[in-house]
Amino acid sequence: MSENFESLQRDKLGEFVDFGIEWLLDHQKTKELDRRIMVEDLNLKPGDVVLDLGCGPGLWTPMLAEKIKPNGRIVGIDINSDFINYASENLAKEPLKDIIEFHKGDFYALPFEDESFDVVFCGNCFAYVTDHSRILKEQKRMTKKGGKIAIKDFEGSVLVVHPVDPQLTLKVVAAVAQSLKENPPDPQFDNFSGQKLRGFLLKAGLKNVSTTSYAIQILPHLTPEAKRYISGNAKWYADTAEPYLSKDDLEQWHSHFDPTSDKYILNLEEFYFCMLEILVIGEV
Ligand SMILES: C[S@@+](CC[C@H](N)C(=O)[O-])C[C@H]1O[C@@H](n2cnc3c(N)ncnc32)[C@H](O)[C@@H]1O
Repeated sequence: MSENFESLQRDKLGEFVDFGIEWLLDHQKTKELDRRIMVEDLNLKPGDVVLDLGCGPGLWTPMLAEKIKPNGRIVGIDINSDFINYASENLAKEPLKDIIEFHKGDFYALPFEDESFDVVFCGNCFAYVTDHSRILKEQKRMTKKGGKIAIKDFEGSVLVVHPVDPQLTLKVVAAVAQSLKENPPDPQFDNFSGQKLRGFLLKAGLKNVSTTSYAIQILPHLTPEAKRYISGNAKWYADTAEPYLSKDDLEQWHSHFDPTSDKYILNLEEFYFCMLEILVIGEV
């Protein structure tokens, strides 16, 4: 799984969205305000010891560190060396660098003792996870009794892109669901993982499981990062849906995100984009 994922970053995701770290940076800049609300909802306390699992290039980590300063500690772990190198190099500029550290590591074999953390946070990773009970078992092992596990993922069945004809958007989303089901990607990618998180945590035996949905809205005037994020997403949807869409539908979808087309929508005053993200928190 780990080696597979590294090649997914470089090959498949690269092919879909043209970038790795840049894609995650666009994602972060586009949703930073929403992410700050999610971080608020984790109810972290000063002094907490936190694990940011699957931290990528460490974009959530300083936002989490802000809540546990001055005497907390946060460790970011990711399997991708490029991401960990990027995160570590940027740490020098980070005001909270003394309470943050980054290490390369695998979800399934973490070098921490039992009950090491008050909170284990895992953002935007469960879509790639094949063995949910195994990763949650490992997370439970590392979390202190009474501590929390918080998993955040997106839920791809909700996609609003106005003024695209809703019938076309629904066809694209349905075609993506069919494509992922009939041709499961290797490595794993589940575009509909958000809705399953609550079930995973309940099955893992976590207590007092809470679930919060966030409608992520993107409105004009779009920043360059938001345009790249939305166009990259739209391209991924089109590439994945392609075998199950008519040529006309596919062309129409592409034209809405093509700046050279008169059907381009990202500069329109009436443009409205909305997607769903879900945060599930359980106690150990
Ligand atoms: C979509 S990225 C999310 C990164 C970051 N949490 C964020 O939201 O910006 C998913 C991350 O999971 C990491 N990952 C995938 N499989 C992993 C594994 N087995 N162990 C550790 N990290 C893994 C990837 O390298 C990648 O950084």
